[in-house]
Amino acid sequence: MDEEKKTADMEAIVSLCKRRGFVFQSSEIYGGVGGSWDYGPFGVELKRNIKSIWWRDMVQHRDDIVGLDAGILMHPQVWEASGHVEGFTDPLVDCRSCKKRFRADHVKDGRCPECGGELTEPRMFNLMLKTFLGPVEDDAATTYLRPETAQGIFVNFANVLDVSRKKLPFGIAQIGKAFRNEITPRNFTFRTREFEQMEIEYFVKPGTDEEWHERWVTDRFEWYVRYGMRREFLRLRQHEGDELAHYAKATYDIEYLFPFGWAELEGISNRTDFDLRQHALFSGREISYFDEDTGTHVVPYIIEPSGGVDRAALGFLVDAYHEEKVRKRKRVVLRFHPELAPIKVAVFPLLRNRPELVALAKDLAAELRPHMMTMYDDTASIGRLYRRQDEVGTPFCITVDVESLEDNAVTIRERDSMEQIRVPIPEVRQTLVKKLGGA
Ligand code: GAP
Repeated sequence: MDEEKKTADMEAIVSLCKRRGFVFQSSEIYGGVGGSWDYGPFGVELKRNIKSIWWRDMVQHRDDIVGLDAGILMHPQVWEASGHVEGFTDPLVDCRSCKKRFRADHVKDGRCPECGGELTEPRMFNLMLKTFLGPVEDDAATTYLRPETAQGIFVNFANVLDVSRKKLPFGIAQIGKAFRNEITPRNFTFRTREFEQMEIEYFVKPGTDEEWHERWVTDRFEWYVRYGMRREFLRLRQHEGDELAHYAKATYDIEYLFPFGWAELEGISNRTDFDLRQHALFSGREISYFDEDTGTHVVPYIIEPSGGVDRAALGFLVDAYHEEKVRKRKRVVLRFHPELAPIKVAVFPLLRNRPELVALAKDLAAELRPHMMTMYDDTASIGRLYRRQDEVGTPFCITVDVESLEDNAVTIRERDSMEQIRVPIPEVRQTLVKKLGGA
C-alpha cells in the first residue's frame, strides 16, 4: 500500500454504504449470497448518474459512436467463436481437508490458506455461468450468461453499420450486465459475479490501431479525473505479454488506489481483427467494411475501452469519502462531483411543528423536483439533517425558517465549505442550476 496516499478505510466505506442505503448484501434475510450486491436508494442514483454521464460523453456528444442494447443470452456458438468456452478459465485447486476451492495463483506455499490442508493439482475452471434455453436441460440447450457485453456488439457489427452508415473510424457503445463465476469474489463490490459493464468497441482501419489505442487510453483516463477522482490516485498499467487476454495485442489498465491497493477500473485493449474474423468464420457470414477510398473490403481493428459501472461507483465513493473535525465533532462527507451526487438538493423546515414552514418547504421541494433530484426531510433536528445529507454527498441543503415567512427567502448551505447564503425563493432554482453546473 502506498503510505503517502492513504485512501479511506474500507470498513468505513462498507458501513456507510449499508447504513445510508448505497449498497446492501444480496438476499441478506437468507444469509446473503456471495458475489452479488443490491444497490439501495442512493446507490442506484449514483450508478444511474455514472451511466448517464458516460452515455452522454461517449455517445450523445460524439458523432462517431452509436449505442446498442444487446441481449444477455446469446447463441451458444458466440462463446465458442469468442474463445470463452476454450480459454476463459482460471486454474483452481481444492483443499482435500476442508474442501474449499482457491485460485492456484492465490495460494502461496502449496497448502490450503484456510486450514493448511493438502491441495489437489490445479484444474482449469470456466468462469462463464451456464444456463439452459427452453425446458430441456441437455447439451443442445446449454448457453451462458454473457461474461462481457462486447460480443453483442461484434455480432451486430454488420447490422449497425448498415443502418448507421458510419465511416471508419466509428464506435458502438453498450451498457449492460455481465456475469462471471468468480472463484473468489472479494473487496465488496469490486469483484462480483454479477456486474455492469460500460463498453465501447471502436472500429478503425488496420494500421491506425496503435494511434487510436493511445488516444482512447488518454481520453478514458481524463474522464475519471474530470468527474472528481484525484489524479495521483490513478495510474496506467500496461499488461505484460503473459497477462494479455487471448484476443489482445496490447492492453492498458486504468487503476485506482483503493484501500486494498491499486486495482483495475477499466481496461483499454487493442483487440485487433480477432473478434470479427472469428465470428465470420463460425457464422459463415462475411463481416467486413467496404473502404471507398481504396475500393477494397477490410476487416476493421478494434480498440475497446471497457469499464465496470460498479468499480467506477466504488472508486468515486472511496475518492469522495472524507472525515473531518467540525467544532470538535467528526463530520463524514462525500465530496461527490455535483453530476454524480445522488441527491442534488435537500429541503428542510427549521421547525417541523410549524405547519406554515412545513408547507413552504414542501412547496419549494415540489417546485425543484422536476428539475433535479430533490429530497424533503423533517425527521430530525437541522444539525442532524445536514449531517445525513453530508454523508450521502448532497451538494446543497435549503432551510426554510421563520424569517422565510416574512422575507420570502431561504438559506442555502453548501456541502463542502458549509457556507450559507440567503436567496429569495423565486431565485432558488436558477441559483442551484447555476451552482450545479447545469446538472
Ligand atoms: N470486454 C473486455 C472485458 O470484459 P475485462 O478487463 O475482463 O475486459 C472489463 O473487464 C471491466 O469490467 C473491468 O475493468 C472491470 O471494471 C469490470 N469487471 C470485470 N470483472 C468484474 C467483476 N468480477 N466484478 C466487477 N467488475 C468487473
